[in-house]
Amino acid sequence: MRQILIAGNWKMNGSRASIRELLDGVKAGLGDVKSAEMAVCAPFPYLGDVQSQLNGSSVSWGGQDLSVEEKGAFTGETSASMLLDFSCKYVIVGHSERRTLYGEDDALVAQKYAVARKAGLKPILCVGETLEEREKNITEDVVARQIKAVIDLEGVSALADGVIAYEPVWAIGTGKTASPEQAQAVHAFIRSLVAEQDAGVAEKVQILYGGSMNPANAAELLSQSDIDGGLIGGASLKADDFLAIGKAAG
Ligand code: PGA
Repeated sequence: MRQILIAGNWKMNGSRASIRELLDGVKAGLGDVKSAEMAVCAPFPYLGDVQSQLNGSSVSWGGQDLSVEEKGAFTGETSASMLLDFSCKYVIVGHSERRTLYGEDDALVAQKYAVARKAGLKPILCVGETLEEREKNITEDVVARQIKAVIDLEGVSALADGVIAYEPVWAIGTGKTASPEQAQAVHAFIRSLVAEQDAGVAEKVQILYGGSMNPANAAELLSQSDIDGGLIGGASLKADDFLAIGKAAG
């Protein structure tokens, strides 16, 4: 049985005050979350606050991106070692907002995956198709290309050290969720793609679903055999909703 992971992606939201309140709420309700691991991926400036508030709790934390560089003259960038300095466990790489708005391509995302993994962070590799790509029936090609970029650079065993998040771009922040059947089909495809190269890694790798997951649709999505958790944007900003999704994991 793969561990269920419910990871919040706060994106560029929150303030010191709102994050304090949010995490107080999350910590207070953790007793109801029986089996899922809960994690939050916070904006860089708040990682110190998140660390002090979550230290000693069962909630993990991480960043939303990282640099491929180790250190030096890279204004505005954040390195893997800086994330580790705040005891981050996870880091998101290749979120569709970074791919679309900041021009990150498969090769750069694969490099970020590699750098994070080598540093000892668990990269959460985001993949997913746009609406146009889905309508053209090339969802599997797109997702395969995005995952193969990591396999080509690092070998399939690298996937065992991270997490994959399938996030159909058309479902992110839109309120449109992939149906459990649509999501399960892509998750099963991803697992079979990995299994072609290594059945053991395929069995082990956690594949999260992301895109408008909320308390109302979480249980059905999470009950699918190849859905091992969620990457939660909007609903992770409300303690009750985030906890309800954690609870829905059973
Ligand atoms: P959403 O975002 O839950 O607000 O759709 C998910 C994500 O972008 O990771």
